[in-house]
Amino acid sequence: MTETAPVRLTSLSHGAGCACKIGQSLLNQILSRIPQFPDPAVLVGTATSDDAAVYQLPGGTQIVQTLDFFTPVVDDPYAFGQVAATNALSDVYAMGARPLFALNIVAFPSTTLSLDILGEILRGGADKAAEAGIPIIGGHSIDDPEPKYGLVVTGILDEGPAFTNASARAGDCIVLTKPLGTGILNTAIKRDRIDAAGIAGVVKVMTHLNRGAAAAARRVGVSAATDVTGFGLLGHLKEMAAGAGLAARISAAAVPLQPGVRALVEEGVYPGGSARNLSGVSPHVDFDGGVDETTRKILADAQTSGGLLLSVPEEKLPALLEALAAEGTLCQAPLGRFEAGTAGRIRVDP
Ligand code: CO
Ligand code: CO
Repeated sequence: MTETAPVRLTSLSHGAGCACKIGQSLLNQILSRIPQFPDPAVLVGTATSDDAAVYQLPGGTQIVQTLDFFTPVVDDPYAFGQVAATNALSDVYAMGARPLFALNIVAFPSTTLSLDILGEILRGGADKAAEAGIPIIGGHSIDDPEPKYGLVVTGILDEGPAFTNASARAGDCIVLTKPLGTGILNTAIKRDRIDAAGIAGVVKVMTHLNRGAAAAARRVGVSAATDVTGFGLLGHLKEMAAGAGLAARISAAAVPLQPGVRALVEEGVYPGGSARNLSGVSPHVDFDGGVDETTRKILADAQTSGGLLLSVPEEKLPALLEALAAEGTLCQAPLGRFEAGTAGRIRVDP
């Protein structure tokens, strides 16, 4: 049986209303109980909650590996495939690595939805992988009432050591390369609160590869990097600060937002996963009294395929901003800096 009417892919996902991860502290608690098999070839493992694993092959070559998948965030299957692939590739770029190849991860209700829809999802993924310069050379699929798609991506560190998210230095500037708001806008898509132009706008943000941002970061030299995804800007910033044993201070006004985000939050369009992010991270954040509730919510919004968050020594900041602009990143926004203080503490100025 096949559908003839356009299928609302996002209505088939019954999760938190966004491509949300399981809560940060909950996950850390569980992972800390799992014994790690010791292997000296593991250069980056689970200890620093970094974006991807780094493993040294015999001979010294370092490979990076990551996987990411989620339920549909948009209704257009081709766009969904592109978003999922862009998001999965992002963790390789966040490590400063060059992707080599990928494998598909697929869950699809093959008895109730046309396989043409799956074809479009896979075509979106393959096109985005091709844009990144890599093939998709296999994968695994299961039948599942809730569609899911993503990639396992393997990359190589042949241009220098891995960027990690735990090596920021006091005085470093914090730079963001994509505007915030995808979780809120994806919720607006699910609730029919956004027009076609708005959908096209957020799809453009989610399908923009972080390759250029990573190339700029590599050329200029950054102290640390991560990508902003399910834990929101504040969650990922807290991880970076805690990992480096530093505090962070940012200005809310310096954070670029996608169009319409503030109004949507004020109308109550806000994902459950982002609300959990905000309550989870709030004990670690000193919000200035001038930072309103809407802004706090946006700063904690779970991002899908968000930008890179870079830590750069102050003297290299102008060169980084110039290099990011030359690479065509969606924004080049200095948000504040890391500083000595309580590890993982964040101060948000208006
Ligand atoms: Co990541
Ligand atoms: Co990830």
